[in-house]
Amino acid sequence: MDDDAYLPIALRLDDAEALVVGGGGIAANKTKLLLGRCPRILVIARDLNDEMRHWQAAGRIDIIESDATDALLEAHLPRLRLVFAATDDRAVNRRVAELARAHRVPVCVVDDPEPSTFITPAIIDRRPVQIAISTGGAAPVLARRLRTQIETLLPDGLGGLARFMRAQRHWIRTNLPDMMPRKRAWEDFLDGPGVEAALAGETEKAREMLAAAAEHAPRRGEAWLVGAGPGNPDLLTLGALRLMQNADSVLYDQLIPESILDRVRRDAERVFVGKQRSRHTLPQSEINAEMIRRAKAGERVLRLKGGDPFIFGRGGEEMAALTAAGVNVRVIPGITAASGCGAAAGIPLTHRDCAQSCIFVTGHARADGTLDLDWPSLARRGQTLAVYMGLTPLAQFAENLRAHGLPPDWPAAIIERGTRTDQRVHIGTLSTLAHLIETEGIVSPALTIIGEVVNYRLNESTM
Ligand SMILES: C[S@@+](CC[C@H](N)C(=O)[O-])C[C@H]1O[C@@H](n2cnc3c(N)ncnc32)[C@H](O)[C@@H]1O
Repeated sequence: MDDDAYLPIALRLDDAEALVVGGGGIAANKTKLLLGRCPRILVIARDLNDEMRHWQAAGRIDIIESDATDALLEAHLPRLRLVFAATDDRAVNRRVAELARAHRVPVCVVDDPEPSTFITPAIIDRRPVQIAISTGGAAPVLARRLRTQIETLLPDGLGGLARFMRAQRHWIRTNLPDMMPRKRAWEDFLDGPGVEAALAGETEKAREMLAAAAEHAPRRGEAWLVGAGPGNPDLLTLGALRLMQNADSVLYDQLIPESILDRVRRDAERVFVGKQRSRHTLPQSEINAEMIRRAKAGERVLRLKGGDPFIFGRGGEEMAALTAAGVNVRVIPGITAASGCGAAAGIPLTHRDCAQSCIFVTGHARADGTLDLDWPSLARRGQTLAVYMGLTPLAQFAENLRAHGLPPDWPAAIIERGTRTDQRVHIGTLSTLAHLIETEGIVSPALTIIGEVVNYRLNESTM
């Protein structure tokens, strides 16, 4: 049994009949799940508890007081939509499941996932809002723990808010027939004070707020330059997450791992603009043009950038191009690779005893292969260098620092895929960097920290 192979769906039961086999406490729990969702509930059991009797007396369920014989099940199964096998007899439950499966009726055997074709998730019920948490049967206790945690985050009036939104759908569709501004108006409403009114049941006030959102729903697009941090999703800012949830399209490159892209709104269009096997990175001018085109078409286009957009991220160029084209730009900073890698590798970037400043440095090889940097200012004691660059020029970088006065045993660390689950930290010196890269098979992205702070490294990761 593969506990990954479960698809969470919301099953419509308002025209259905469901069967519960069993009359004890567990069967009653499953019946309770169906009450209010499914109009016809049949219970087959010889012994019934008080709750079941009570629902029967209230006309909410039908009961056949009998064992679940094959003949009885065969007679009812063809018209059933769902079956719960919830007796305390495993063999009976399995027989019910066998027959249900033969009739292709979804069946859940309580506490026995093997013969089941569905399982029930942990449910947060704020109808019409329902949140289902499934671990595919792997860890029900974890599912219940998550339910408790999520419950505490949700406002009480959530169901009322959803009902308010349903009631306004016709009105807003008539007033904003185009999908994009309509979506925008709903999002602005949800971001604004109208939500509090709807949650509190103040319908008139909420309606006024929605009307204001509809009136002001911007018809023009925008561009958002958002820092995604060095790769660990825990290092996204709240601002980044919020915009990732509101964007119409997202342009990203190879510095953005799947675990972060997973947090982008599901129906946002994702556009990869990074290096591909068949071609180099899209030229910057084409990325700018793509953002401008989308923003002018009314989209909220989000450029998701590794680390911070304004630190070696070409965010400055993108902002200038967008602004020149008349597009509104917002910038959300991110945790830059140096901060993230330092923390994750346990290396402070400054230290009272040895480093009073920290220089973020990058460099590109000139046509003749040399690096054009201010070496005398970089090759100083009392400071840390955080080197953002590919691995190829690193040997030359270290060589230049030595040529300008730093000793060969000056500490250096390479942090490979910093902050991610597969992070590796390599400790060396200026004279061993090149050898390290080769023998350890280090790959990009990798950040190099050079300076005596490396000696203050904690062995354990601090994140
Ligand atoms: C084009 S720069 C982008 C820097 C980014 N804007 C920032 O603030 O971190 C790319 C370089 O950042 C460094 N880098 C980015 N993410 C990293 C990570 N998770 N681990 C190590 N280095 C990283 C590498 O040196 C890489 O070559």
